[in-house]
Amino acid sequence: MQWDPTQYLRFTDERLRPALDLLARIDAATPTHVIDLGCGPGNVTTILKQRWPAADVLGLDNSAAMLDRARIAAPDCRFAAADFGTWQAEKPIDVLYTNAALHWLGDHDILFPRLVGQLARGGTLAVQMPAMHNEPLRAAQYDVVAAGPWAAALRGVGSAQSILTAGQYWDILRPRCKTLDIWETTYLHALQGDNAVAQWASGTSLRPFLDALSGDLRDGFFAAYAELMGRVYPRRADGSTLLPFRRLFILATV
Ligand SMILES: C[S@@+](CC[C@H](N)C(=O)[O-])C[C@H]1O[C@@H](n2cnc3c(N)ncnc32)[C@H](O)[C@@H]1O
Repeated sequence: MQWDPTQYLRFTDERLRPALDLLARIDAATPTHVIDLGCGPGNVTTILKQRWPAADVLGLDNSAAMLDRARIAAPDCRFAAADFGTWQAEKPIDVLYTNAALHWLGDHDILFPRLVGQLARGGTLAVQMPAMHNEPLRAAQYDVVAAGPWAAALRGVGSAQSILTAGQYWDILRPRCKTLDIWETTYLHALQGDNAVAQWASGTSLRPFLDALSGDLRDGFFAAYAELMGRVYPRRADGSTLLPFRRLFILATV
C-alpha cells in the first residue's frame, strides 16, 4: 500500500485530536526511551518530543514516504524503517505510543503480548485504533468494489481488517499488566470541502483499492464511493459533513 502524506494530512486537526487525547492520559514523568510505532508523517512524534524533551524519541514506520515527511516534521527525533510484525526493540521501552496504526496488521492476540513484553518495568503501552469496520464508511467500500467494472481488478484487494472487541483486548492484556484502562470515544468530525468523507477515506482505508486501479477505473470507483458517502453522510446546511468516528483507546502499564 502506498501512503500519501499530503492526502493523509488533509484532515490534520481531526486526526490529531484522538492522538492528543491518548497522550494526555499517559502518566510518565521522565521516560528515557519513547517509541512512536507507525509514526506516519511525524506530526505526532514531534508532540511526543515536546512532552518529554529529554527522552530519546524514535518514530518507526514501514512507509518510506511517511518517514521522509516525518524527518522534516520532527528533526529532533530519530526515525527508522520497521514493520510491526517483526520489530524488536533494542532496549526496554518506557512509553510505547501508537496512534491509528496497529489496525493495519492482524493477529492482535500475538502482537499485543509482544508489544507489552518490550516495555521496561513501569512502562506504558498507549494505543488508539479506529473502530469503524462495520460503519458505512468502511463497509460500503466492499459494496462499491463488488458493483462496478473495477470488480475484477480489485479481486483479492482488502483494507485494514476489523480490530478485536474491547473485551478481547482486556482478556489479552489484563494478565500481563499492572494497570489497564480501555475506553471508546465517538468523535463527530465536522469535515469541510467537496466529497469530504471520500476524501477522508482516500487518506487511509480507501488507499489499497485506489492503489490497485488507474485511469478511468480509478476515477469511476472513487466517484461511486463518493456518491454513496454523500448520501449516507449528507452535507449540512452550513456546508459541513458530519462523520461519526468511533475509536478504541488502550492504556496499559506493567
Ligand atoms: C493512519 S497512519 C497513522 C500515522 C500516525 N501514527 C498518526 O497518528 O498520524 C498509519 C501508519 O501506520 C503505518 N503502518 C501500517 N502498517 C504498518 C506495519 N505493518 N509496520 C509499520 N508501519 C505500518 C503506515 O505506514 C502509516 O504511516
